[in-house]
Amino acid sequence: MRCDQTTAWKNLQHHAQAFQGFDLRTAFAADAGRAESLSQSAPYVFADLSKNHVDAATEALLLQLAQQTGLEAHRDAMFCGEHINVSEDRAVMHWLLRHPAGSLNGPLAAPLAQVHDTLNAMLAYAEQVRADAQITDVVNIGIGGSDLGPQMAVLALQDFALPGKRFHFISNVDGHELAGVLRGLKAESTLFLIASKTFTTVETMTNAHSALQWFKAQGGHDQARHFAALTTNVAAAAEFGIGTTFGFWDWVGGRYSLWSAIGLPLAIAIGAAGFKDLLAGAHTMDQHFQTAQLAQNLPVRLGLLDVWYRNFLHFTSRSIAPYHSALRRLPAYLQQLEMESNGKRVDSHGQALTYGTSPVLWGEPGTNGQHAYFQMLHQGSDIVPMEFIAVKTPTHKLKDHHELLLANVIAQAQALMMGKDDAGGHRHFTGNRPSTFLLLDELTPASLGALIALQEHRVFVSGSVWGINSFDQWGVELGKVLAKDIHARIVSGVVAGLDSSTAALLQRVCRV
Ligand code: F6P
Repeated sequence: MRCDQTTAWKNLQHHAQAFQGFDLRTAFAADAGRAESLSQSAPYVFADLSKNHVDAATEALLLQLAQQTGLEAHRDAMFCGEHINVSEDRAVMHWLLRHPAGSLNGPLAAPLAQVHDTLNAMLAYAEQVRADAQITDVVNIGIGGSDLGPQMAVLALQDFALPGKRFHFISNVDGHELAGVLRGLKAESTLFLIASKTFTTVETMTNAHSALQWFKAQGGHDQARHFAALTTNVAAAAEFGIGTTFGFWDWVGGRYSLWSAIGLPLAIAIGAAGFKDLLAGAHTMDQHFQTAQLAQNLPVRLGLLDVWYRNFLHFTSRSIAPYHSALRRLPAYLQQLEMESNGKRVDSHGQALTYGTSPVLWGEPGTNGQHAYFQMLHQGSDIVPMEFIAVKTPTHKLKDHHELLLANVIAQAQALMMGKDDAGGHRHFTGNRPSTFLLLDELTPASLGALIALQEHRVFVSGSVWGINSFDQWGVELGKVLAKDIHARIVSGVVAGLDSSTAALLQRVCRV
């Protein structure tokens, strides 16, 4: 049943009205057990949800909403390989990429065996590259899900990376990016990984062709050794002239593909054992999502909180603040995960929705954000729920730094909630601003895997309650089509038939 037709939805609307005067400080004062009852552990992640605008009644109603919209059946359909990506008629099985070998019977046994064959081949190749001292630079050419996942993870796990290899990520069609990286490279010591699920994305293909031209112009030979492709379109990669290809399947969405061959840069960086740890960590979160009762199921609680904030308290964005500089690309990664998945205005049957879906996701690592936009979070006119992500144990030995970092993240959550009374003047902080606190013991391949799988599943939960298809992305197509037309016009100079603004801009940039 669509969420807005359920009794839980109506009850939540009433509850939200009664909730208008909710104050976190009062809630804590009234309930000594609040921190404990609204906190929980999940694999590798401790979550404190208590500084959110929720109470036990809110959570109970949200759980009813999950039940009435068939969340569990939808989740189980994903884990059975049903074609829940209805607009593309595809299964959604990124979770299978981290499932232990040989652990499934029935129709999914064969795909799981293929997953492990490819994984083993890719990890063997990763080890070969790691052992090849002549290769000092690995250049990943890909965009969106073929860039953000490996880029975020290589950075996040830099302390586990093999010394002596540099990693570069080229995504933008803007030639300044590729030209800037190529300037510092030598053909004989560079490995190019062409990462594209479809092997048709114009940015990636343009960059790949330019990289190949550069390689040849630099006197590079042995293309087979210096180029590999990561794609579901093995035929297109072969046509491009790449023989070394690691494939994956149409049931892996681009933004869910870190666990597939798209993870090769990470496997080269942290090695086969590290990559397996990442998969194992993610798998433990899959199991938690599949088996924990809904009331103690962290992806379910987070996804339902997202629905509560978006549709009932009308908060339109969420800010991510990882207090760990190695997680500095995490906000960009989560932005694609949430906004490409749940930025939909129709339900999975194509019917227009009457309620909001994906919030805007944004953020920067702490403490940097504190000296930039946190002013607005503390004293601005909009309430932005925060998601703090911290790591208990550092990997460096520098004195004082980590204590200061952790002091800041805890103090920010406290300050947002507590505020400061100054008779309403410039120094007044209203407080009562909500935040979620996620804590990892250590940042390791396994904990990163669990953290990312947690985020994938919470996006699934809100998308499922909203009744949308979180696994297509038709919204990116129009811009691609129009760019083709405008590109032809930039070359020809023909502006006929365009609106006057587009025509004038085109004439300004036209070089003919
Ligand atoms: O344009 C959006 C998109 O399709 C993303 O979903 C995807 O991650 C990205 O482009 C890259 O696509 P590909 O891996 O096929 O090059």
